[in-house]
Amino acid sequence: MTTLYDRIGGAPVIETLIPAFYARVLADPNLSPFFKHASMDSLQGMQQQFFAMALGGPVAYTGRPLGSVHHGRGITTSHFSAFVKHLLETLSAIGISPQEADEVIARIDTFANEITGTSY
Ligand code: HEM
Repeated sequence: MTTLYDRIGGAPVIETLIPAFYARVLADPNLSPFFKHASMDSLQGMQQQFFAMALGGPVAYTGRPLGSVHHGRGITTSHFSAFVKHLLETLSAIGISPQEADEVIARIDTFANEITGTSY
């Protein structure tokens, strides 16, 4: 069975998606303060691995556990929703079909509790 990673176009698409996505996130005054002290190159490299893995690609995520990276930063479910809205808009802007974009969002949404800490 073909993975979602392959269906959206694999590595080249992830490499296009992540920088375009963070450009939108950093342009959002509601989200940009969270990233003020972050090393964006390293973050985006890790996020490319994470997305590739989460979409079923042949990639191992070598970053820190999502919970320990995100907890204690004050990230609410409303910040998470804004982040995912930018993701959906970026997927559309780079030409991913609405059906596949919805599948990507559904995958990423499964990590909401890990990011916001609402399951703890
Ligand atoms: C499902 C959604 C998300 C995923 C999959 C995700 C994933 C990641 C990954 C893989 C890293 C890099 C970890 C490492 O360097 O080891 C990271 C870092 C970071 N994320 Fe997220 N993230 C998500 C949502 C968010 C949201 C909503 C915010 C804030 C509004 C956020 C803020 C940050 C910040 C500030 C860092 C940098 C931490 C540092 O200083 O190194 N993330 N995220």
